[in-house]
Order: sequence, then C-alpha cells, then structure tokens
Amino acid sequence: MGNARVSANKSAAHDYVLGQSVGAARRLEIQDSHFADVSEKLLDELALRPHDRVIELGCGPGGLSRRILRRLGAGGVLIGVDASECLLAQARNSLGKLGPARFETVASDISMLGEWLDGADVVVGRAVLHHVPMVEIMIGRLRTRLRPGTRVGFIEPDFRAPLARLAFLEASGRTELAPLRVWGEVINQLYLVKRLSPDVGASLARSLEAAGYSCVRAGWSECRSNELMIENMLMFYDEVRDQLQALNLLKADEIDRQQGLLRGLDPEALPAAWGAHYCASVA
Ligand SMILES: C[S@@+](CC[C@H](N)C(=O)[O-])C[C@H]1O[C@@H](n2cnc3c(N)ncnc32)[C@H](O)[C@@H]1O
Repeated sequence: MGNARVSANKSAAHDYVLGQSVGAARRLEIQDSHFADVSEKLLDELALRPHDRVIELGCGPGGLSRRILRRLGAGGVLIGVDASECLLAQARNSLGKLGPARFETVASDISMLGEWLDGADVVVGRAVLHHVPMVEIMIGRLRTRLRPGTRVGFIEPDFRAPLARLAFLEASGRTELAPLRVWGEVINQLYLVKRLSPDVGASLARSLEAAGYSCVRAGWSECRSNELMIENMLMFYDEVRDQLQALNLLKADEIDRQQGLLRGLDPEALPAAWGAHYCASVA
C-alpha cells in the first residue's frame, strides 16, 4: 500500500463525522435492526451467489457484513472496506471465524476506489454514501473500475421526507414530537455543514442511471420508531456533542434538554423519524 493511500485513509477516518468507538458500534448495531428488512431486500435483489466476491464499502463493525456472509458459501469472499481501523477490528472480532466464506478487511478511503475492487462480482454499501462529499462523482468513477455485469447496490437513510410528517403533526397539536423534528434538523444540518451528502438516497437511482448502470431498481420504506430508535438518537447526541457546540448548531444545555425530551417520549406511540432508500443495479 503506497503512502498516498495511507494518508488518505487517515484523513477519511479523521474526517468521519460520527463515532468510531465500541459505543458507536452499539449505535450501528441498533441501526442494523432498523434496517433489517431493507437489507435483506437489497441482498435478494443483488441475488448473491455462494461463490461471489463481494466488496462492501464502509462496512463499519459489520452489521450488513454478517447478513452477506450468511448468504455466501465456502468459495465466497467478503472484503469489508472502511476508513476506521477501530470499527474494522470490531468487525474482524465478531465475523472473522463465522465461515464458511472468507472475510477480509481493508483500511481505506472508499472514494479512492483502490485495488480492493479488482475482481468484484458484487459491490454493496449501507449508510456510507452520505458520508462522502459529492458522492455522485465517486458513483460515476466506480463504474469504470468494475467489470460489466458487476451487481451494485446501496442502502441510504432518509432523514428528510419523514420531517414533513413530523412537522405537520407537531403543528397540528402533537407538540411532544418536537424533539424528533429537532433531531432530524440537527443531523441534516451537521452533515450539510460538513459538506456530506445527507439526502443522496433520494436521487441515487437517477444518479446510477446517469452514470450508465443498468437494471436500476429502487425502493423506499419507513423505519419503525421504537425504544431502540430513541437510544440511537441519544447516542448520536453523545457522539457529536462537541461538534454541535463548536459549529454553533446546539449549545450544551440545549443538547441536554433535547435528550431529556427524547427520554420522556412514549417510544411505541411515535411516527417514523427516518426511512431508508435502496437501489440495486448492474455496472
Ligand atoms: C453509518 S456507518 C455504517 C456502517 C455499516 N455500513 C452499517 O450499515 O452498519 C458509516 C461507515 O462508513 C465509514 N466511512 C465513512 N466515510 C468513509 C470513507 N470516505 N471511506 C471509508 N469508510 C468511510 C465509517 O467509518 C463508518 O464505518
């Protein structure tokens, strides 16, 4: 691995807006349960075969990786690529001996489209594209790195569309929903300030088609609100507390107040606060 790649990796891990600790992995585990149905749907659409060589972009601690590995056989390989060595270590610890397929990890900035893409039958990523600035450029370049026929699919969270219903309900009298609306505003604002792509999922199918991918299939679903969703939101505030203050998005006492309001909600009586886009295609 050349020096240029190493420094790019460090920078991508350093720039990552969310946490990389064991606590952050717990939040991603919760996220995996929210994305369970859409994840299995995407893997069905990609028609994984036991011998496939699958490259997973931004695998993190391995929630989607586990689902992929369950579908691969002894000849299959999953390469998990992520900028965070800490999250990759957690993925190796929990999945390294799962078998029968081989699981390997690569520490890299995915936007560098490195040699780890060579020979891919499938390229997949969940909740990672929105962390890459102007990710449409990477999506276009990615197609030139793949063999024609490579199956490509992504899942991206939607923190935007559900805000419309939350705002309607809140303005119609359900004022207790304000902390869900504030959380949605804050996560979008944080990503926008960081020049990330928080709403890439909504136009992903169009982007894939524009780059020449074929057989583009897309769908959207809501994620059910429950106790785990509230826990996820509380952990998000903990992970980015310092950044929210430094960027003047929320002051410390307001973060505490929002967390208190979230804790006071009845988790089973809430509308969806986020959704998920999926897109499957062929390079
Ligand atoms: C929200 S997490 C999702 C993790 C995993 N895909 C999942 O669904 O549980 C985003 C992941 O993308 C990784 N990531 C963000 N930007 C990256 C980049 N430029 N290159 C490589 N990995 C990146 C982060 O380290 C993190 O593990």
